[in-house]
Amino acid sequence: MDQFLKEVLDDLSRTPKTLNSKYFYDEKGDKLFQEIMGCPEYYPTNCEMEIFMEHTKDLALTLKNGFNTFDLIELGAGDATKSSFLLKELMDMKVDFTYMPIDISSSMISHLEETLPQKIEGLKVQGLNGEYFEMLEKANTISDRKKVVLMLGGNIGNETPENATAFCRKIRSSLQQGDLVMIGFDLKKNPHVILAAYNDASGFTRDFNLNLLHRINAELNGNFDTRQFEHYASYDPANGACKSYLISRVSQDVTISGQTFHFEENEFIYMEISQKYSVRETEEMAGVSGFKTVKHFYDHKRWFVDTVWACV
Ligand code: AVJ
Repeated sequence: MDQFLKEVLDDLSRTPKTLNSKYFYDEKGDKLFQEIMGCPEYYPTNCEMEIFMEHTKDLALTLKNGFNTFDLIELGAGDATKSSFLLKELMDMKVDFTYMPIDISSSMISHLEETLPQKIEGLKVQGLNGEYFEMLEKANTISDRKKVVLMLGGNIGNETPENATAFCRKIRSSLQQGDLVMIGFDLKKNPHVILAAYNDASGFTRDFNLNLLHRINAELNGNFDTRQFEHYASYDPANGACKSYLISRVSQDVTISGQTFHFEENEFIYMEISQKYSVRETEEMAGVSGFKTVKHFYDHKRWFVDTVWACV
């Protein structure tokens, strides 16, 4: 059975029901995420962009770290808007490195391989299309140079802290002592600011969540009536968990590939976590997963951090 179908059927058979936010990103989902990033309430993208634009030189010097030559690997590179600032700076510094973007989207990888060397003269790009860990291993077989791994955007927030730690340990196990990683974490801040970012007035976040139900209808032969589900975002300042849910407005049945699921009135589907961290918590995560913190890069409001870790 198709992995997507299997996961959806399993996840909706649980109590409470859940769906995996990694499936948000079909073509429509990518567009909606672009819209979210353009919303005044959604601050993380602008914060991290500020870090890359205002601290470019310092970032480049920290990541170069005296290595004569290295591979710069980016997990979930997307269109590489933010990292382009860093790539340009490293080229201007005449650093010998190869940029290895890893992405699940093959069209994104071919696009980067084609356009980046045109935009940044002389840049060496070796795209890797596939899952993060398989592609990290592949990068190791391609070259034995020092590795610098980027994971930007606060994507790590889509895991619970426990799973995020396991994820970091797994990255560590693909690397060597002295290699570097830089991870973007969205930080704990005023709860109103966080909640608004996941409950924008234009409703793009609502549509982003509902889009997964549309996707299930289209790809897995489902019959969700999306008008009968309501988006609900929450943020708990006590543990930093920002979660979104879809709430069933009525008692209803939904059928997916022949399997029927019952929803009680007000029953929820847990859709996504966007975990927020304190700086201290990022340092603890570094320590327990085999890294030590080298440096933090903040935006001027200190709402977001790109933190650099070294493998110990
Ligand atoms: C792409 C995972 C960083 O969690 O902030 C945006 C996705 N979800 N609005 C985030 C998202 C709802 C986003 N990340």
